[in-house]
Amino acid sequence: MIKINISVFISGRGTNLQSIIDAVQSGKLPVTIKAVISDNEEAYGLKRAQKAGVESIFIDPDDFSTTQKYEQKLLEFMEENKIKLVVLAGFMRLISPYFLNNFRGKVMNIHPSLLPSFRGLHAQKQAIDYGVKVSGCTVHFVDEGMDTGPIILQKAVPVYDDDDEDSLAERILTEEHKIYPQAIKLFAQDKLKIKGRKVIRED
Ligand code: GRF
Repeated sequence: MIKINISVFISGRGTNLQSIIDAVQSGKLPVTIKAVISDNEEAYGLKRAQKAGVESIFIDPDDFSTTQKYEQKLLEFMEENKIKLVVLAGFMRLISPYFLNNFRGKVMNIHPSLLPSFRGLHAQKQAIDYGVKVSGCTVHFVDEGMDTGPIILQKAVPVYDDDDEDSLAERILTEEHKIYPQAIKLFAQDKLKIKGRKVIRED
């Protein structure tokens, strides 16, 4: 089977990255992680990548005079390495229309809520504050909005009366680590078709 090349963009601890690395190493996910790219030199995810023998690169956005020049550099790397999918895993930066116009339908993100509820930062706290009884996580394709792109997979978890942001985040994270590798696998197998707002699974 031909394995597609993916690149994972991170900014922090990288537990989702780890779940992807683990799925690849155990033979469950037929992709090659060509590079882990971080916009933060201190990101622990860079160490996870090194440990797994995956190329890890810090590209400092501050080295570029504009977002477009920074993203141009990222796009050049994607082209040189024949990257077919960019996986955002805790990447704390919005992808601009410029990048998306050159990579449409090929950028995925994971968000710790059942979208369209609780977009943006601190989704777990938003869920607790709102008082919902169910929350979860969503893998979606990235479009120009914040957490608004077509939904690929979702998984619900209960919210308990005594939950705080951390306990809910932990329960959601356990499910993130399952559905992100699953969504990437569906993409790698060319089973996902975007039709308007919907992602249709074609087996
Ligand atoms: C996760 O909660 C993910 O849903 C959100 O950012 C967090 C990243 O965590 N987009 P990690 O770096 O993968 O541990």
